[in-house]
Amino acid sequence: MALFKKSDNLIGLDIGSGAAKAALISEVKGIRRLERFGILEMPHGAIEDGMIKDPEAVAQAVRDLCASANIKEPNAALSVSGHSVIVKNINVAKMTDEEMQENLQVEAEQYLPFDVKDVYMDFHVTGPVPEKEDQMGVVLVAAKKDTIDDYVSAVEMANIQPVIMDVDAFALQNIYELVAENFEQIVALVDIGATKTNVNIIKGRNSVLIRDVSMGGIQITQEIMSQGGCSFDEAEDWKTNPESAKMDKEELSDIIALTSARWCEEIRPAIDFFYSLNEERPDKIILSGGGGLVSGFKEMLAAETGIPVEVLNPFTALEVNESQFEPSYLKRVAPQAAIALGLALRKVADK
Ligand SMILES: Nc1ncnc2c1ncn2[C@@H]1O[C@H](COP(=O)(O)OP(=O)(O)OP(=O)(O)O)[C@@H](O)[C@H]1O
Ligand SMILES: [Mg+2]
Repeated sequence: MALFKKSDNLIGLDIGSGAAKAALISEVKGIRRLERFGILEMPHGAIEDGMIKDPEAVAQAVRDLCASANIKEPNAALSVSGHSVIVKNINVAKMTDEEMQENLQVEAEQYLPFDVKDVYMDFHVTGPVPEKEDQMGVVLVAAKKDTIDDYVSAVEMANIQPVIMDVDAFALQNIYELVAENFEQIVALVDIGATKTNVNIIKGRNSVLIRDVSMGGIQITQEIMSQGGCSFDEAEDWKTNPESAKMDKEELSDIIALTSARWCEEIRPAIDFFYSLNEERPDKIILSGGGGLVSGFKEMLAAETGIPVEVLNPFTALEVNESQFEPSYLKRVAPQAAIALGLALRKVADK
């Protein structure tokens, strides 16, 4: 990992299976300002389930994205999620960071479904454990080396150096903390992408429960393709503009409603599990990612969980030059931009 000066800008690069997003944020006297932002569709099939299947297509998408957003910075922060990444909240005997570093493998071994030799690991001490004075809480992160190395080399092919590797759920939490005004509440951050969904329940500034689920907007696209007999691009278009669809409108809205109901069924257990541990429920759900924008989903999730749902607009935390970025454009892409913005905030200053 290269160390770089505080003034150096860092590209926040969220390489999703549906779209790649890049963001650049500057900070002058505590004011964070959006300098660059871009989003570009990822070729279908280049990334599946959080793993890179076509490195050259991914590198080309990153090159095109940075060129179109006029981003020339050499360093980037990336993030991963899905099956290759494990995040666990554990309690261990109190120890120093150095001791924890030494014990990491032993501690991790009991929680990981992978061989410790095959993963990169990191940890973060969250603080004391209530009623257990000799223990401390630790968030343990382990990510498969193969998957991480694939992301690093695809980005390097685009002449960008990844200097920070983060986890989607933490990048999301990072930008949410900038937007949030109230840290008293328990908040469930739910990001629904094209193929995967991250749930991160935070209390104060601590992440207490993280769940990744393999579901997302592409499920609706594929169902439209099969029932509407159309191409991937047409199905994407019909999903976002149902009035333009050349298929039975009722059939289309049934596909959307059925998939949305299934998503609710996947999200609810995470909330119920959190309740079983804490006897508290989240005060609100904050929705991000493009998948969650599908019509009617937000309302259905609120009705199914009994928890108010808001859609995240991460740009509200930043100074934005409206002659550079059209406000209606930013509003439209805001939920998809969240992770890239959270990554762009990861400078040495806040490490
Ligand atoms: N307005 C909209 N209505 C419905 N779906 C939308 C809308 N905008 C985007 N989507 C869908 O959102 C998905 C892309 O969202 P996002 O960019 O958050 O995913 P991603 O980060 O690329 O995917 P992943 O994180 O799963 O790899 C696509 O399935 C796309 O069709
Ligand atoms: Mg995503």
